[in-house]
Amino acid sequence: MNDTFLKACRGEKTDYTPVWIMRQAGRYLPEYLKVREKVDFLTLCKTPHLAAEVTIQPLDILRVDAAILFSDILIPLEPMGFKLQFSETKGPIIHNPVSTADDIKRLRNINPEEDLPFVIETIRILLKNISVPLIGFAGAPFTVATYLIEGGSSKNFLKTKRMLYQSTEDFLELMELITDNTIKYLLSQIKAGVHAIQLFDTWAGILTPYDFSKYSLPYIKRIISAIDHSVPIIYFAFNSSSLLDLIKNLSAEVIGIDWRIEISNAIKRLGKTACVQGNLDPCILFGDEELIKERVLRILKGAKKAKGHIFNLGHGILPETPVNKAIFMVETVHNLSMS
Ligand code: CP3
Repeated sequence: MNDTFLKACRGEKTDYTPVWIMRQAGRYLPEYLKVREKVDFLTLCKTPHLAAEVTIQPLDILRVDAAILFSDILIPLEPMGFKLQFSETKGPIIHNPVSTADDIKRLRNINPEEDLPFVIETIRILLKNISVPLIGFAGAPFTVATYLIEGGSSKNFLKTKRMLYQSTEDFLELMELITDNTIKYLLSQIKAGVHAIQLFDTWAGILTPYDFSKYSLPYIKRIISAIDHSVPIIYFAFNSSSLLDLIKNLSAEVIGIDWRIEISNAIKRLGKTACVQGNLDPCILFGDEELIKERVLRILKGAKKAKGHIFNLGHGILPETPVNKAIFMVETVHNLSMS
């Protein structure tokens, strides 16, 4: 197995900087769209041979150094009792969101092996068919809570914040429940053989640093200590430059950053506590090759003092991205970091 990615996660020396792309299996790939013509997104996630097929597509096409399990952070919510739909135009919709203490009491605890057997089976198929490490993942509790309370995506997260500030006990009970289930879900992925875990905290940045440290960080800490470094953990919080001083104490092996901060500055603030992942603006892939090369080089140079660096975009690749630019970016990271 090409273990460059795992070495970088552990802060060991590598021959070149490993690279993978958030949402690397997705709508910018014609091969993915072809599979999606036959099945909707939820069916794709629940059909192991198809989920494995689309997980593998970017490995062959882009030559990235890690695979990420094809699924979604909202997949474990169905067995908890939520009616989940992925609308082509509106994204995820939860038809029975949480608003009262009674709603929370009705939620079920999951048994991942029984309730999400397709995830375990997809991992099994992948381990037989790939030669790079496989990343498993889950949403961080606060991010998952926003979907459960809002019923989907949101602009100002009023319902979430209203529950947090008006019914704090209920909110924290929900956070406990999500955390318990996330731990079980991640441990089942690790048992099935994933080599690393990424926690996606897309909406961490909507909280004040004080509220983040009080109402979100303790639950992330609980997940990280339950995994107990059995595999490296990447904690990626979007829009989190103002939270780095709090995030650095998490004891995650890798901290993912978006593009709103110079990587050299993030490294200064994180010190040698963690490796760093990121941080190209996904829109740079709409520029010409010269621009991509310049910005890749800038990030590689900025990351020289890091304990370890995994190259990635600062958020998911956009569906409109030209595939040849993504291929060029991966090649450029490899070539420039080798010399
Ligand atoms: O990275 C990968 O290639 C692995 C698969 C993956 C998906 N979603 C597939 C997906 C992963 C790791 C996720 C994580 C995820 N899902 C996050 C955290 C990361 C982030 O982007 O901030 C969030 C917030 C979600 C929830 C979600 N899923 C939204 C808001 C949407 C709609 C918006 C969109 O991009 O379409 C989805 C749908 C989704 N998840 C798609 C894919 C490939 C598109 C579905 C399709 O094929 O139509």
